[in-house]
Amino acid sequence: MSDRALSFGRLAEDYDRVRPGYPPEALRPVVGNLVVEVGAGTGKLTALLAPGRRVVAVEPDPAMRAVLDGRGRRDVEVVDGTGERLPVGTGEASAVVYGQSWHWVEPTAAAAEARRVLADHGVLLLLWNVPDVSVDWVRELNRLAGLPEAVPEFAPLELAGFSPGEVRHVPWQQPLTVDDLVLLFSTFSRVSTREPADRDRVLESIRASLAGRSTVSYPYVCVGLVHRRTPG
Ligand SMILES: C[S@@+](CC[C@H](N)C(=O)[O-])C[C@H]1O[C@@H](n2cnc3c(N)ncnc32)[C@H](O)[C@@H]1O
Repeated sequence: MSDRALSFGRLAEDYDRVRPGYPPEALRPVVGNLVVEVGAGTGKLTALLAPGRRVVAVEPDPAMRAVLDGRGRRDVEVVDGTGERLPVGTGEASAVVYGQSWHWVEPTAAAAEARRVLADHGVLLLLWNVPDVSVDWVRELNRLAGLPEAVPEFAPLELAGFSPGEVRHVPWQQPLTVDDLVLLFSTFSRVSTREPADRDRVLESIRASLAGRSTVSYPYVCVGLVHRRTPG
């Protein structure tokens, strides 16, 4: 795995504090009793998936796994693995869910592996929390951090062995102090992997652009791509 893919672990506790959760409506497509969550990180999505089901939370980074394991949930099995190689038996899962992690996997291998572990008609749900850059001050923060300034277009993916994807959009907001918003930007891999002086300059410019505020409601759109395993 690349340095960027493993860049989260050193920041695991900050990450857990300030990264967004997920709006419950975004999880509506999840079906059945055995959910495999891939790239579970510190468990921001796991906590929402678990009630009433068994969740196998797959995470390759030991520092992220340690935070998730520390929660000690009996309905969650935390395991080492990757999207390309899931430690789950063939046909066992009712749903495979990625929260903010599909872009880290090799998609052809990961889709084939999701298909292997899913039962017929099982659901593959890919979620991303996208900052709502149609809001001026949100777009300005992304500009300062070198992150995308245009609203990204999400199109259904064509994945072998799955029905054509459906795209869902769920808008929501995360209340944050300005300190935590600056910390949030420090957890983005495109910021955290910069040279320290450059990273600090970016973070200070973000803080300066929010001068006069102590809290914000940070707007997200949670985008979901829903695919169903075709039989056979
Ligand atoms: C942006 S974090 C998302 C964590 C969590 N799902 C969330 O919503 O907060 C991406 C996660 O994907 C993991 N990851 C990186 N490469 C992976 C791979 N090939 N297979 C599975 N997970 C991977 C990283 O270790 C990290 O925990």
